[in-house]
Amino acid sequence: MKWTFDIHNTAQRLFVLTGAGISAESGVRTFRDSGGLWEDHRIEDVATPEGFARDSQLVIDFYNARRLQLKAVFPNPAHLALARLQKQLGERMTLVTQNVDDLHERGGSPKVIHMHGELLKLRCLSLAEHIVEVSERQKMDSVCPQCGAGLRPHITWFGEIPMQMELIQQELLQCSHFVYIGTSSQVYPAAGFKAFAKSRGAIVMCINLDVEPDSHTDLVLQGKAGEVVPNWVQGILAPG
Ligand code: OAD
Repeated sequence: MKWTFDIHNTAQRLFVLTGAGISAESGVRTFRDSGGLWEDHRIEDVATPEGFARDSQLVIDFYNARRLQLKAVFPNPAHLALARLQKQLGERMTLVTQNVDDLHERGGSPKVIHMHGELLKLRCLSLAEHIVEVSERQKMDSVCPQCGAGLRPHITWFGEIPMQMELIQQELLQCSHFVYIGTSSQVYPAAGFKAFAKSRGAIVMCINLDVEPDSHTDLVLQGKAGEVVPNWVQGILAPG
């Protein structure tokens, strides 16, 4: 199968799903590679509602450390190239990330759907779930400025439903081309998007450092996102 995305064909729509691998070359640790975050931390301690209920200080410290690290990292050529493509395609491209960093935004992407939340936001524990911006540290005793309730990281934890799933589903239904970049496809529902897109007739491509054979994937570009993505984008923007 060939990658037939045509920048001039307005009937075609591109869905891009990114994972931790796209930020790896910026210096953000992935989760499951050797040296990944889940080697040092137990998921059930720092990434579940039960963990937060048991030891909220530990969880707040974990996300404070990751938030602090954002100041030391910068978008890499993969983020920049996707932003360039998105600006050209406008509403014809949907960018969904599992990442909680802000590197797509800082790379210039005009619209990013963060299905697993964002490090730079907190959410209050009242039913209203007010969103509060946070640039560095969440203090243990900080409360929602709108209602006074306690605050938690605005992160999708295991056992919780990812954010903006209705919008994501609509976009998946419409896409003619689906690309997943730098994700191990271990965590659902994101891991199931490629099969869903394929079943609706989309062409599916994978860009990743390590590639496993996969029946839903039509095309593979193996390599570092920071090298492969800019070339791939260039091929779309200036074909031939
Ligand atoms: P993983 O750490 O599971 O997978 C990262 C993938 O990126 C692996 O397949 C690597 O081979 C690949 N990779 C590493 N460096 C790369 C590079 N320079 N270029 C291209 N690919 C590279 O991360 P995710 O799949 O994003 O969820 O993990 C999904 C979710 O699991 C995360 O959003 C997080 C985690 O638990 C929550 O915290 C809710």
